[in-house]
Amino acid sequence: MASGAKKTGMESDEEECRAAERIPALREEIKRHDHAYYELDNPLISDAEYDALFRELQAWESAHPHLITPDSPTQRVGGRPLEAFAKVIHATPMLSIQTETDTSAEGASAFDARVRRELELPDDAPEVEYTAELKFDGLAISLRYERGILIQGATRGDGAVGEDVTQNLKTLRDIPLTLPNAAPPLLEVRGEVYMRRDDLARYNERARAQGEKLLVNPRNGAAGSIRQLNPAVAGKRPLRFFAYGTGVSEGWTAFKTQHELLLALAALGFPVCEYREVARGAAALAQFHARMAALRATIPFDFDGVVYKINDLALQRRLGFRSREPRWAVAHKYPAEEAATVVEEILIQVGRTGALTPVARLRPVFVGGVTVTHATLHNEEETRRRDVRVGDTVIVRRAGDVIPEIARVVPEARPEDATPFSMPTVCPECGSHVAREEENTVIRCSGGLVCPAQMKGAILHFAQRRAMDIEGLGEKLIEQLVECGKARTVADVYHLTRADLADLERMGEKSAANLLAAIEKSKKTTFERFIFALGIRHVGESTARDVARSFGSLARLREADLESLLAIPDVGETVAASLIDFFAEPRNRAVVDRLVAAGISWTDRARENTAGALTGKVFVLTGVLPTLGRDAARDQILEAGARVGSSVSGKTDYVVAGENPGSKLDKARELGVPVIDEAELIKLLRGEKTYEADS
Ligand code: IVH
Repeated sequence: MASGAKKTGMESDEEECRAAERIPALREEIKRHDHAYYELDNPLISDAEYDALFRELQAWESAHPHLITPDSPTQRVGGRPLEAFAKVIHATPMLSIQTETDTSAEGASAFDARVRRELELPDDAPEVEYTAELKFDGLAISLRYERGILIQGATRGDGAVGEDVTQNLKTLRDIPLTLPNAAPPLLEVRGEVYMRRDDLARYNERARAQGEKLLVNPRNGAAGSIRQLNPAVAGKRPLRFFAYGTGVSEGWTAFKTQHELLLALAALGFPVCEYREVARGAAALAQFHARMAALRATIPFDFDGVVYKINDLALQRRLGFRSREPRWAVAHKYPAEEAATVVEEILIQVGRTGALTPVARLRPVFVGGVTVTHATLHNEEETRRRDVRVGDTVIVRRAGDVIPEIARVVPEARPEDATPFSMPTVCPECGSHVAREEENTVIRCSGGLVCPAQMKGAILHFAQRRAMDIEGLGEKLIEQLVECGKARTVADVYHLTRADLADLERMGEKSAANLLAAIEKSKKTTFERFIFALGIRHVGESTARDVARSFGSLARLREADLESLLAIPDVGETVAASLIDFFAEPRNRAVVDRLVAAGISWTDRARENTAGALTGKVFVLTGVLPTLGRDAARDQILEAGARVGSSVSGKTDYVVAGENPGSKLDKARELGVPVIDEAELIKLLRGEKTYEADS
């Protein structure tokens, strides 16, 4: 099929005859299958077999474009979804473009200076002529026209090999299916598929109303649509196209510059972006960069910078390429995107530990491809330092994919009555007084057990997968349980009944039963998960593990004193004090009692092993352990009754050094801590070697 369709000299007549026979036969067959598939709902062949027929027809037609008829199934879009895209080897690679690192005006001078140097121009040579264009933020594609007929459209892929997305591209009204008579016999047009912001907003509005998936931003909208296997999907998306260059061509040499080339593309019916110019020298390039930056909000589509190309095609050829990037072009991007908006309100969020965080609610603003409605102000000090006030016009910045932030306030736009921000003196969630932590910027609600925000946070933390792992107990449900008073502490979770759950939103019999089963199942846990689940401040997963290993029993942990806590590797003053405070509070003790009374239990591995040769020893691991691996080594050490610390100190008994050990090894040598390798560790674990014998 495809390879048979290549014609050379003598074979061509015979080939032509075969094409003239095969093409109509394939069309008939495909139409028969379409009828069976769409009308009769009774497919006669698999999708893969159908794809093969379709591709064979495409291949014949692309080799004999004069045989293409408008009624051919290949010309009809919205056909059957393909299983996967065919690969397309680009006749000339689709290049990438070098990005100028300097986003300021200097970027233009840097590029111009490089061009002059590489062209070996003397200092007094006239200024180099460039075209300055926009750098569209969409998806690069290549369109192949033979004898004026679009026969293939492909994505860039890795530059050398892309994907055949012809069917999808044919759904774009901007892409001509046929070219006027003046078109050359062979022409590859390169350009960008993109989406306008207003089109995207309209599309999303409709999609939302119909409960369909929304598009995240114009770029993803464009790229995602073109890479849809079902052309009917692309057909519904408001996609557009700009041409900016060519790939291979035959009989397409009538012009000498990029500027003329763009005009010629426009004459053939391709949309060419009007925001472009011919510019001489670095200053003119920088001016274009700045002028387009100023117009950015009013231009209806996204572009992330501008592109400079040497205008003279002969000079372009002289400079050539460096790997996959031409030396004659550069992308001069804009710094992180910024947009102005207004602070409508400063909200106070209360976290699980009661920390109050000011958050600015913003008039929604589109920046860097997303609509931003909120930005954290971090804490009181930060908010005061930047003096963000309600009513202020602020510049929101979004660099790459990072969380949007308020870059600065526009002081000239401040309303006269705007008052400086101050933290509330009571918690907005529960009315308890708030306290500033000493030597800390954090302000915390004192309402611990009565503050709904803290209750919700505490239960959410308790139920999470890495803690008690209660499947199905998520944020929405917890919110309802707290709000209707059915759960105030984590212990209440274990007293929920079928009746309690029955009148919650979106809670059917089946999900209620599932949730109760998940709650029941969570009662069997490990001591370390239980400690972590309590949400004691500064006690994360790894501290919880260390504490569990050291104490083994809840009774002992509850009565632990400072000294015994500090003996745990990695437990310092802050963590020790936090544990003591937690268990000193009668209300916390009561919650813990109720949890235990509800039947929570754990198996206590470490303590069962009190007779182990390694009991009480502290190991620190560094480097790669080729046989065991770090995790298995850690588990086995714990199994043997020892502990694993994360840093080397006087309390460390052994440092196990694998391949490429880190600074822990130096530290061990410095402190005179015994260093062993993996083989020795294994012997210790097997009891073939004893600690005493080693030391
Ligand atoms: S010219 C010089 N012109 O940038 C290398 N590319 O091409 C040939 N791009 O992802 C490409 N706007 O989609 C060229 N006006 C423009 C462009 C542009 C955007 C993108 C293109 C590709 C990357 C490198």
